[in-house]
Amino acid sequence: MMGSGAYPYNVEGIKTKFDSNGETIYYTGFNETGKRIATSYGPQWFYTHGGGCVNCHSADGKGGVPVMMGYTVPADITYASLTTIENPPYTDAIKTAIRDGLDPSGESLSPTMPRWQMSDKDLNDTLQYIKTL
Ligand code: HEC
Repeated sequence: MMGSGAYPYNVEGIKTKFDSNGETIYYTGFNETGKRIATSYGPQWFYTHGGGCVNCHSADGKGGVPVMMGYTVPADITYASLTTIENPPYTDAIKTAIRDGLDPSGESLSPTMPRWQMSDKDLNDTLQYIKTL
């Protein structure tokens, strides 16, 4: 589990200590070993400064606030919301969205959503955390 992980920056005023690898990734974009997860796409500031899911989807996962220099409003990624999108259902497809930026029907998500080159473990842990939102 997380120790006193020293990250280069924190999401101000929200949280600096995390209970799981998934939560660490959600808040920082780093995994529990202190490695920044490689990404492609995303807005310029994200590309240069990094960040976690929280920077766009907010602490409660509900998104909805426009991203600085982004083109698309971040989606609600609470598990309940993702899994009520029907046809085809957004369950394991969440992983494809996170890693490959594709929605369940294979359409590309907006380039504002970074593509995260995560290991299977990091991806599973992130999904596990999202399920708690
Ligand atoms: C720089 C902003 C940004 C960051 C950081 C970000 N996202 Fe997103 N995300 C978006 C935007 C914008 C969308 C909506 C894309 C669209 O509508 O095409 C999105 C969409 C998604 C979707 C698809 C939801 C749907 O209904 O189609 C998932 C799942 C998701 N993000 C998960 C994550 C996770 C997990 C992380 C962290 C590992 C993350 N995002 C980090 C901006 C971001």
